[in-house]
Formats: sequence, structure tokens, C-alpha cells
Amino acid sequence: MFRPADPLTHTVLRVFALLSAAAAGLTGLGLAVFLTPPLQAELPSPWALAAAALFVFGTFAAALFCCVNRLVLRRLAALSPDGCDQHNGPPAEEGTGMLDRIETSLTRHETRIGEQLAQLQSEVSERRAAEQEAKDALAVQTSFLATTSHELRTPLNAMLGLLHLIQIAPDTPPKCKQHARTALSAGQRLLEMVSNTLEAAKLEAKAVTINPHQTDIRRLTRHWLVTAEASLHRRSRDDDVTALLELSPDLDPEYYLDGGRVSQIIGNLTDNASKFTALGKVQIAVSPLAGSKHGLEIRIRDTGEGIPAEVRGQIFERFTQGKQGMSRPHDGAGLGLWICTDLAHLMGGSLELLDAPTAAGFATEFLLKLPLPQAAAL
Ligand SMILES: Nc1ncnc2c1ncn2[C@@H]1O[C@H](COP(=O)(O)OP(=O)(O)OP(=O)(O)O)[C@@H](O)[C@H]1O
Ligand SMILES: [Mg+2]
Repeated sequence: MFRPADPLTHTVLRVFALLSAAAAGLTGLGLAVFLTPPLQAELPSPWALAAAALFVFGTFAAALFCCVNRLVLRRLAALSPDGCDQHNGPPAEEGTGMLDRIETSLTRHETRIGEQLAQLQSEVSERRAAEQEAKDALAVQTSFLATTSHELRTPLNAMLGLLHLIQIAPDTPPKCKQHARTALSAGQRLLEMVSNTLEAAKLEAKAVTINPHQTDIRRLTRHWLVTAEASLHRRSRDDDVTALLELSPDLDPEYYLDGGRVSQIIGNLTDNASKFTALGKVQIAVSPLAGSKHGLEIRIRDTGEGIPAEVRGQIFERFTQGKQGMSRPHDGAGLGLWICTDLAHLMGGSLELLDAPTAAGFATEFLLKLPLPQAAAL
């Protein structure tokens, strides 16, 4: 049963109940007067009229009070804060207690959420500050690398150029020519190491970008062949090792790629091939990438010493060489393949060492896969 908690409501209802009872009483009296025949006969006509009027008024008043009473009760039930209806709602005191508990719990949750929000905001600002710091450090590192790279390469290139001139000059005595050749070869090795070290640092600092453009693939591959020949010449292997270029007839005339970056990978691979091949050939084979309309597959094969199974898993790691230790016969820092792999990934491609070369007579084969986009689509 619905019981209003508000005393005013209670009083209003009581007044309505009393008025209803009074109206019902008056109706009863009116009925008694009007319906009793002896009384009707004895009463003069004005009394009969008054009794009739009393009856009508009493009936209307009783009906009106009943309706109002019912309406008020319905309205109060609808406005009940716990939403319970007149018939099955909990007592108002219970509802108020429940409301208090809900309010307390809400306040507690609100406080906790406020604290957590403040903590999160402070964490966000801390992370933003750290991110900004990292960005600043990266910018400094990148600019340092760019400057150092330029500062080291420029004088080294000048020295190498002069040594080359001494070596080819007709009036240089044979002994001096030989010294110049040795110095040139050492200088080139130094330049390569400096370049590789700086390039690795740049890749790690994510400061290397790929800028593709429409490229004449035949001209680019001729440049790779010249680089391979220069590498063999520098190692005085050009008499014993031949550099070869094999182009698939299915190649398109042009590809959309970063020629400089692809050449950097091929240069590193042909340099390795010429470093580890004493006799035979170094081959660059280029064909369209299987299963892709615009990609390229570039294979670098050599007839050198091969790569033992036990070091195959490690050679792609940084500063890792196949033959470690003090008696290591080959120069280098063990960075070349790591740089090549990273560059290949940056271009969306991959570099792998094949378990067995796909052409007869070769000992080692690296496969560079480049899935290239169609320029017009960009
Ligand atoms: N064509 C190859 N034939 C035989 N071994 C190879 C060949 N290419 C790579 N390797 C092995 O993989 C190792 C790692 O090669 P990587 O190019 O990373 O370093 P590196 O040539 O020794 O030094 P860097 O390239 O820094 O001058 C080499 O030291 C060598 O042992
Ligand atoms: Mg190398």
C-alpha cells in the first residue's frame, strides 16, 4: 500500500476523506427524507424540495470528493521517487534510505573518478613532455649525423681523388703508383666503413626516407654493374673474377623506385660478393617480381667461398661477421647486410639468403624482393 511520507499530503488526504464522509452522510439523510413516504406526506412542499436539493447536492459532492481523492492518490503514486506504484512499492522510509545509500555511493565513486582523472591527466602531460624531449633529441641526433656524414665524407673523397690522380699520372714512378694504389684502397675501405656506420645510425634514428621516382631500369642496372666492377678492381680481383649482368626480357622499361637506395643495397651485396670471391664470377640478375605486376626481383650470386650453415642465421644481425676473431681475414664492420635488410623493409620489400643458389655453379645467392607501386596510381 502506498503511504505518503509528506505530512502535508497526509493532512490533505484526511480532509478529503472527511469531506467525502460528510457528503455521503448528507446524501443518506436526503435519501431518507425523500424516500420515506410517511415523511413525504407530512412534510410541507418546501421541505420536500429542500430534501430533494440536499439529495442532489450530497450525491454530487460525494462523487466529486471521491474522484479528487483518487486523482490525488494516483498522482502521488506516479511522483513517488522510487518509482513504485500504489500497490507494490516499498515503504517511503525504505526508499529514502536506499536513496541516501545510492547518493553516498555515487559521491564516493565521483571522488574516486576525479582522483583517477587527475592522475591520468598528470601522466598524459608527463608523457607529452617525454615525447617532446625524445623528438628534440632525435632532431639533434639527425642533424649531428647529417653534419658528421658530410664533414667526414668530403675530406675523405678529396684525399681519394688525389690518390687516384697520383696513381694514374704518367710521370709517377712505379713504386709511388703502387703506394698510391694501396693508400687508395685503404681510404676507400675507410670511407665505406664511415658511410655504413653513419647509415646504420641514421636508420636507427628513423632519419632515412625513401623518395621513389620513375627510373630507367636498364640504365640503373648498368650502374650496378660498374659498381661491382669497381669493387673487384679495388680488391685487385678484376683479372680473376668477372662481373655479369643478366636482365629478364619481361622487364618494363621503367620502374617507380628510389634508385639511390636500391643501388645502396646492390652496392653492399656486390661488394660482399667481390670480397668473398677469389675466382669465378659475380652476377646481378634482374627480373619482374613473381606474382606482382610492378615489382622487381634482384639476385646477387657469386662463385666465392659460400656461407657456412652455422652462421647463416646470424649474418643479418648488426656487427656480426661470418668469421669472427683476431684472425679475421676480411675487412668490414658487419653492418652491410643489416643496413640492406632495413632499407629493403623501408621500401616494403625483403632480403634473404637462399639455401641453395637457383643457378648452377654459384656458391651464394642473395634475393632482394621489391614490390613496387605503379607510379600513375600514386
Ligand atoms: N657473398 C658472400 N659470400 C660469403 N660470405 C658472405 C657473403 N656476404 C656476406 N657474407 C658473410 O656475412 C657477413 C656479414 O656481412 P655484412 O655485409 O653484414 O658485413 P661485412 O661485409 O663483414 O662488413 P661491412 O659490410 O660492414 O663492411 C660477412 O662478414 C660474411 O661472413
Ligand atoms: Mg658487407
